[in-house]
Amino acid sequence: MSRRAARRPRLVPRTLRARLVAGLLALLVLAFVGVGLATTAALRHFLVDRLDQQLAVAGGRYAASLEHGAPTDGADTRAQAPGTFGARLVSGRVTAAGVVDGDADDGVEPNDDDGVTLTSAEQRAVAALPVDGAARTVGIAALGDYRLRAVSGRDGDVLVTGLPLHPVEETTERLISLELTVFAVALVAVGVAGTLWVRWSLRPLERVAGTAEEVSELPLDSGAVALSHRVPDDDPRTEVGRVGASLNRMLDHIGSSLNRRHEIEERLRAFAADASHELRTPVATVRGHAELALRHPGPVPDPVHHSLERIDAEARRMGAIVEDLLLLARLDAGRPLADEEVDLTRIALDAVADAQATGPDHRWLLELPAEPVLVRGDADRLRQVVTNLLANARSHTPPGTRVTLGVEAAERSVRLVVADTGPGIPPELIDRVFERFVRGDRARSRSTGSTGLGLAIVRAVVTAHGGVAEVRSTADGTVFTVLLPRT
Ligand SMILES: Nc1ncnc2c1ncn2[C@@H]1O[C@H](COP(=O)(O)OP(=O)(O)OP(=O)(O)O)[C@@H](O)[C@H]1O
Ligand SMILES: [Mg+2]
Repeated sequence: MSRRAARRPRLVPRTLRARLVAGLLALLVLAFVGVGLATTAALRHFLVDRLDQQLAVAGGRYAASLEHGAPTDGADTRAQAPGTFGARLVSGRVTAAGVVDGDADDGVEPNDDDGVTLTSAEQRAVAALPVDGAARTVGIAALGDYRLRAVSGRDGDVLVTGLPLHPVEETTERLISLELTVFAVALVAVGVAGTLWVRWSLRPLERVAGTAEEVSELPLDSGAVALSHRVPDDDPRTEVGRVGASLNRMLDHIGSSLNRRHEIEERLRAFAADASHELRTPVATVRGHAELALRHPGPVPDPVHHSLERIDAEARRMGAIVEDLLLLARLDAGRPLADEEVDLTRIALDAVADAQATGPDHRWLLELPAEPVLVRGDADRLRQVVTNLLANARSHTPPGTRVTLGVEAAERSVRLVVADTGPGIPPELIDRVFERFVRGDRARSRSTGSTGLGLAIVRAVVTAHGGVAEVRSTADGTVFTVLLPRT
């Protein structure tokens, strides 16, 4: 859906702020167009009305004067406004037409009348005017648009009088240009003021968004969480205040749920630590008694001897698991590790020597730099990391596999690599190998004494040292890489 939205041309702006301002301006333009059209139409109507009244007052005097020559029964061009048009019709034909000259500089007396030549179409239009005393608009090529009014004369003739429409047009045009200027200035002013106003009005919303963003960036996935962020705008009488108040309530809930989760995690951790600690002694006792019974002088029936050996072996295994669980519980609880100078080269040499002894069928190789590689940390735990990785390379690969342990020092970190040419880790397992009790081929693993805690301990110890443990595996082999910060 979002892809479709992205492809559609964007007519509506994206941000709320831009939308509000755009909407405001659009409404304003509509209002201006409405007001402009209404005032222009009203003004024009008013002016034309006034013109028609003037026409009614003028009557047919000027038209009558055209034929008979001034002055005729008191009618005189002098009394007419400049631009007044007159025509006399006898039996539907124009016998005379003239216009009052308004130009005072042409050497003739002002208000003198000039003859006007009408085209035949114009003559027809003038002749077609109904003699009802109402004014009509007629266009005359030589003079422009006129309001014309026809009345019947004394001698059975028709007298047409007209006044020019162009002052009306001029006034209307001036009004339009004035309105355009005023509206344009008002639009700009409203645009600027509206943007500021909208920005000011949306500030509480931005604060809410800011708080939500800050919270979304908090590391909430584990541990104790101090969720102290709150939105300042929580007045329930406003829309944003309601959102803010809801957000604050939600943050309260999240905060208490996370704290509850933390408490439960802590309790579980304490339980695992206590349980493994409590198991240590009985497991050691079982082992001690099994050993004692095995060393008993005198004849012991074979099945009993076998059972005692199994008890001894399983008690050993149980002891190892308990130790692993206890170590994990302590690392989880963030118990401080020893902080001493550790020679990784030494650990690597010892570990490969031990591996050679336990797995003589594998080929063990060591790649060490000339100088000893030193890190700060807990020597026993780091030894356990190397031992676990080598034990995996031995127990999860067939005899004859080549295993290389390499240690190298870079500028800021130390890299420890255990690479084997074995069959690799099954793909469905690879993403979870560092998790607890995750192991391949469960049935076989149990018989070979595999628990699935080895790599969990590797990761926990390495993480506690501020490093990272990674694995890459293909059908041609597996490479475990441990990066530790350099001291
Ligand atoms: N080098 C390796 N080659 C192939 N598979 C491996 C290798 N290392 C680990 N694995 C697979 O990853 C699983 C998890 O290893 P991990 O060390 O955590 O447990 P484990 O070796 O099975 O038991 P534990 O180490 O607790 O005795 C193993 O069961 C195995 O299937
Ligand atoms: Mg293992």
